[in-house]
Amino acid sequence: MNDSVYLKERCPVWMEGAAVCLLDQRALPHKTVILRLARYEETVGAIRQMAVRGAVAIGMTGGYAMAQAALTAPENRFWEVVERARAAIGSARPTAKNLTYAVERVHAALKKAPDVPAARRLALLEAQALYRDDARMTRRIAEVGLPLLPKKKAVLTHCNAGWLACPNWGTALAPIYLAHRKGKSVFVYATETRPRGQGAKLTTWELAQEGVSHALLADTAVGHTMAQGEIGLVIVGADRIAANGDTANKIGTYGLAVLARAHRIPFYVAAPSPTFDAECPSGREIPMEERSGEEVLQVSGLNTKGEETSVRVATAGVTTRNPAFDVTPARLIAGFVTERGIVRPTKAAIRRFLNQARRRSTTPPA
Ligand code: MRU
Repeated sequence: MNDSVYLKERCPVWMEGAAVCLLDQRALPHKTVILRLARYEETVGAIRQMAVRGAVAIGMTGGYAMAQAALTAPENRFWEVVERARAAIGSARPTAKNLTYAVERVHAALKKAPDVPAARRLALLEAQALYRDDARMTRRIAEVGLPLLPKKKAVLTHCNAGWLACPNWGTALAPIYLAHRKGKSVFVYATETRPRGQGAKLTTWELAQEGVSHALLADTAVGHTMAQGEIGLVIVGADRIAANGDTANKIGTYGLAVLARAHRIPFYVAAPSPTFDAECPSGREIPMEERSGEEVLQVSGLNTKGEETSVRVATAGVTTRNPAFDVTPARLIAGFVTERGIVRPTKAAIRRFLNQARRRSTTPPA
């Protein structure tokens, strides 16, 4: 894939030889910058610094980073380098389940190889298969979520759960894109104006590329807009879904779910099976990332001369807290929009869904 193709493919990360290439999401919406990373350590840095973000995209990048480590490791230290890479990549960010899912999947594939050349080949094939699987699941999520869209009212989505976060169709944005492509009218409110402004910077950029009608809503304006009767559905993505349905997603999601319940607005979570964590009993056990207070102290954007700049907005020396995610309890969620249909937020329904998804992925192709 070359630089201009990421838009056509709607894919934020890809490989060229042993290099991992990324659309640098920190530069959006003002500039498109492509990073070409030659070493897996650089790819780990890009995940940590959020040049790539969004649970599924982080997973894909982790899978490619494993393939990259396998392709570049010297033959005499191959297994040592691969194990070091596995630990470093898998822990680059803690909350998104898709990251360890991808790393372990590529690792399991290469471990089956009889020798180093075969291991390099298998690692790359598995990372590419991961991408194809993710893309296929997002298309199914689009179809499953389509009937949920309200006919007359707006849809609200939080942070970015489009193709920047999950290749091709995205998760929460997938049904919206499909509706738009089918000529149905849909209007989207995008939130997450703080702390990182990912609704403002990424979701509005994506929706504008696609021509979907939308408006940016300050996070603080949600209750008012719901009370006015303008919103008919809230749909968000997820970073990790516990076995009981408690869901970690970008900070602010929990507040939206509480407001949606108060206004009797359905609140759905769109996510593929690798985002579910059967080993994690409830939201209390989900590892939660806390990021630097600088994100709260500063805002960044273009100045009047069109130059990138950051300005400090808070009182000098103030103490901060900056949790990056929150947990929405299962009882506030109407359902999960998955590649296998709507899954109810109960332990039994999630267990059934994951068993079916696992059976399908271990069935050899006919
Ligand atoms: O910190 P981020 O930008 O990686 O967090 C992203 C989110 O919380 C998204 O809503 C998300 O991953 C859902 S779509 C895969």
